[in-house]
Amino acid sequence: MNAQAATAQLGVQQLQDLEPTLEEFEAAVVAGLSATQKTLPCKFFYDAAGSVLFDRICKLPEYYLTRTELRILDEQAPAIAALLGPQASLVEFGAGSASKVGLILSRLEQPFSYVPVDISRKHLLAGAAGVARAFPGLRIAPVCADYTQNFALPAAASAAPGALGGFFPGSTIGNFTHPEAAVFLARTREILGPGAVMIVGVDLQKEERVLNAAYDDAAGVTAEFNLNLLRRINRELGGNFRIGEFEHAARWNEAEGRVEMHLVSRGAQSVRIGNARFEFQAGESIHTENSYKYSIASFQALASDAGYVPAACWTDERQLFSVHALRVP
Ligand code: AVI
Repeated sequence: MNAQAATAQLGVQQLQDLEPTLEEFEAAVVAGLSATQKTLPCKFFYDAAGSVLFDRICKLPEYYLTRTELRILDEQAPAIAALLGPQASLVEFGAGSASKVGLILSRLEQPFSYVPVDISRKHLLAGAAGVARAFPGLRIAPVCADYTQNFALPAAASAAPGALGGFFPGSTIGNFTHPEAAVFLARTREILGPGAVMIVGVDLQKEERVLNAAYDDAAGVTAEFNLNLLRRINRELGGNFRIGEFEHAARWNEAEGRVEMHLVSRGAQSVRIGNARFEFQAGESIHTENSYKYSIASFQALASDAGYVPAACWTDERQLFSVHALRVP
């Protein structure tokens, strides 16, 4: 039985499938490696191996984000449930393994439906199946899509008798530039509609030492996660990256307020991907990810510019991480 048939047995409804194609992946890789500062889009980190590595990152001692956010969500779930009210529907953008949403669903009064949206079909269906097992009877309508693009809300959500809730945990918003984050927030505001409440996890600005350790852990898991992007290009696009010839680097960029991840070429080399060839100087990098860090005020200002009204913000006692509730007026 395939993954979709298995999830159907658990009561997961029809999958809306907009997973990016191989052609789109190739076009993005070729465009990124042709730029003066070479780049690769971080959304392609999450193939099967990348998703497993990311799950390992979330458990690392240096990566405080996940466990701190989980603690805040656990403490504040009753307040979030009160904001949403009875028979609400929850739409999770970039659901992945859907490991956090249970904290909210379990506190909602008669939740109506759950709509996980994710770029990786396999991960999406596995996450949906896990939620279906934990919440029997809950309507689950997965959407396989790049959640930064437009998609239609399934009827299971648009027909909810209660409020619509959006959920975007993990500080994934930090992987967008500020203009991209504003566009994403404005799009979710439109998708969810008036009266909805959007819950967003946002990592906070802090000491450089703590940030650098979180993105360059002692066990080297983040390095593997970064290098896996080159392995994926080799496997899926016929590339010939020699993985050992690239080195992971994490750098705090003070002026931009972000941690940057790079893959640095150890020497001068040439790489082929399909019919294209790319030249690297020694020390030249591919910029693979930004992780912007916000203050509470700077994130609320961004959300207000995108048309939301900040309704609440919760943090941990060390002010490492924040969870925001934003209302669509
Ligand atoms: C998914 N995202 C919020 C993670 C982050 O912290 O920016 C991805 C990540 N990159 C390196 N470690 C984790």
